[in-house]
Amino acid sequence: MATASRRIGGPGERVDAGLKVTGQARYAADVVLPNLAHAAYLGSAIASGRVLTIDTTRAEQAGGVLLILTHHNRGPLGDLPNGDGTALAPDPRPPLADARVHYHGQFVAMVVAESPEQAAHAASLIDVTYESAPCVVDIDDAEALRLEENPRRGDCAAALRAAPVALDVLYSSPVQHPCPLEPHATVAHWVGHDLVVYDSTQWVLGVRALLARAFGLADDRVQIVAPFVGGSFGSKVCTAAHTLLAAVAARRLGRPVQSVLRREQVLATIGPRAATRQRIQLAAERDGRLIALRHHTRSHCAVNSGFPDRDPFHEPTSNVTRMLYACPNYEAVHDVVPLHLMKPGWMRAPGEATGLWALEGAMDELAYQLGVDPLELRLRNHSARNAHTGKPYAGEHLRECYERGAERFGWARRDPRPRSMREGDAFVGWGLATATHPGNSDDASVRVRLDCDSRGAYASVATAGVDLGTGLYTALAVVVADALELPLARVHVELGDSRLPPAPVTGGSNLTASLAPAARAACLQLRRRLLGFRRDPDEVAEWGELLARAGLGHIEAIGASESRAVPEQYAYQSFGAQFVEVRVVPELGQVRVTRVVGVFDVGQVVNATATRNQLIGGIVFGLGQALLEQLVHDPARGVPVGADLSGYLIPVHADVPDIDVSWLDAPDPAFNSLGCRGAGEIGITGVAAAIASAVHHATGIRVRDLPITPERLLADMADEREK
Ligand code: MOS
Repeated sequence: MATASRRIGGPGERVDAGLKVTGQARYAADVVLPNLAHAAYLGSAIASGRVLTIDTTRAEQAGGVLLILTHHNRGPLGDLPNGDGTALAPDPRPPLADARVHYHGQFVAMVVAESPEQAAHAASLIDVTYESAPCVVDIDDAEALRLEENPRRGDCAAALRAAPVALDVLYSSPVQHPCPLEPHATVAHWVGHDLVVYDSTQWVLGVRALLARAFGLADDRVQIVAPFVGGSFGSKVCTAAHTLLAAVAARRLGRPVQSVLRREQVLATIGPRAATRQRIQLAAERDGRLIALRHHTRSHCAVNSGFPDRDPFHEPTSNVTRMLYACPNYEAVHDVVPLHLMKPGWMRAPGEATGLWALEGAMDELAYQLGVDPLELRLRNHSARNAHTGKPYAGEHLRECYERGAERFGWARRDPRPRSMREGDAFVGWGLATATHPGNSDDASVRVRLDCDSRGAYASVATAGVDLGTGLYTALAVVVADALELPLARVHVELGDSRLPPAPVTGGSNLTASLAPAARAACLQLRRRLLGFRRDPDEVAEWGELLARAGLGHIEAIGASESRAVPEQYAYQSFGAQFVEVRVVPELGQVRVTRVVGVFDVGQVVNATATRNQLIGGIVFGLGQALLEQLVHDPARGVPVGADLSGYLIPVHADVPDIDVSWLDAPDPAFNSLGCRGAGEIGITGVAAAIASAVHHATGIRVRDLPITPERLLADMADEREK
């Protein structure tokens, strides 16, 4: 068996590209079944209070209406495993549970009709009266509640008091939304007493678990299908209200029901990234070595999150601040602030993207305070082990990322003085930040079957894991083609069906590291079995010949990855270095990112094309986080303002420069048989801080509140001139 192949880590076509560009890839909303009915929802017009009356008379008389569900007639659901922070509906109460309203847009009625237009029209004819209570939607306007979990080491308070150099800064980030281009969609279909659901989800087994409980069915009576998902970024981890209601309505009607959220419903009823306020206190020696780091975060949660009995979901900002830099004294405190908003959830490196925004911003400030180069400050605080657990990294190459990034970017030529570089009308600024994300993997299984036809051997690969558009089809095809020495075109991959061998949620950048080694293990089993039929160990024989000798038409095996097989004495972590150049025309206050260099260590890369795509995509997320993205709510009524793609700004091509991403050739063999860690989220981490540092370098203005909008920067520059 060839161990090092050119295929693993090489460039390669995206095996799903043909289906996508020809429109043959079938997404949840593309599923058309005979007699399909269509759902629409009426969202609450208030953010806090209760429904007093709901009159569906006019709506029932509208054309094509089949069913209207409200809290009066939604009917019983089984005991839902809500609020445990894993599988389940982000809203801790099932939809249409009672008259209470906790956020604007919360579903108060569902209409099912013959067409989507008829359903939407009928929903507009439902007459609702409310009893409205005051709402609070700004994290600075409500009382904070302390979470119990507060990681610490050493004596932070004493170290902060005694420090020769100290810094105390507050960084903020707004409510943001994963806002995938494919709106959340479900088609629910009862076949006899069994439920089949086509869903836009990151986790077919999570949806299955929830729906099986809701309807009192055994797991194998529920099938969830998600072969293609058009982006999700954390927003399709949980089973959402519309999925559950589609299944309820389909059962009631005896017809399949399609339920596609409108854009503003995605933004209002699917959990956003929590707003954060992060106070970072640093204490350092005069040479920049950290002595103490205290990290106090407030992040918002929902008023109905069930806290303190249930996990309210807190944006886990301290995960990264506790582990990144060598620092003997550390303390994190986390408060949650209940607001009249949808319960927040996971989005694009939850915790790392936000925690590094604050920490890396503070590190840049410390570098200026000390007169030390920001890169040198990172090197002086580098830790070869997880600074919190003390475990050494099995593979760690952060210094090399800094070094290569600095080289590619030209960092050594930087004059550290703010406003020292100009080009035409624009100030030019350079900033950098550390990127990091944990190596995650979970128990997973993949079935590989080997067959023969007139053109020779071919493999069929199957697992319940979902490809969100990220490259899992390609990664598994590459691994199997490599292990079985087949052309890529002779490997067929089937994904995203709960009947296939179990796989974890596609989340936490875990899927390639979980499934690729499982696929490889299955192939190795097949090889061992077939190679036993050689006449001698040196014989070169085709798979078809060996199958024939074995008297088999085909052969198959299931390979598994087990998280308990990962050695516990090590820590597994990906790292990177982000270098950014910005141009700011002072009269306009607009920040243009003109260059980005990102160098990463993500372990073994399985497919260069998909990895490059992931890392560039992550950096573009970071550009959005830094400059554009915020979901604003009207403070008086709690209404999401501009809840569409013209109001919720995400980067477009014109915002994105050529991005120079590269990675080290650095497998992490202790982690799994391929040494891969995954590249889904690390790309976003550090970018916002690097951009803000570049803006400071360009203009002398330190922005600690995201996003860095022209109006914010113009106001700060005007204040600066006043001084
Ligand atoms: Mo992702 S935010 O790990 O689903």
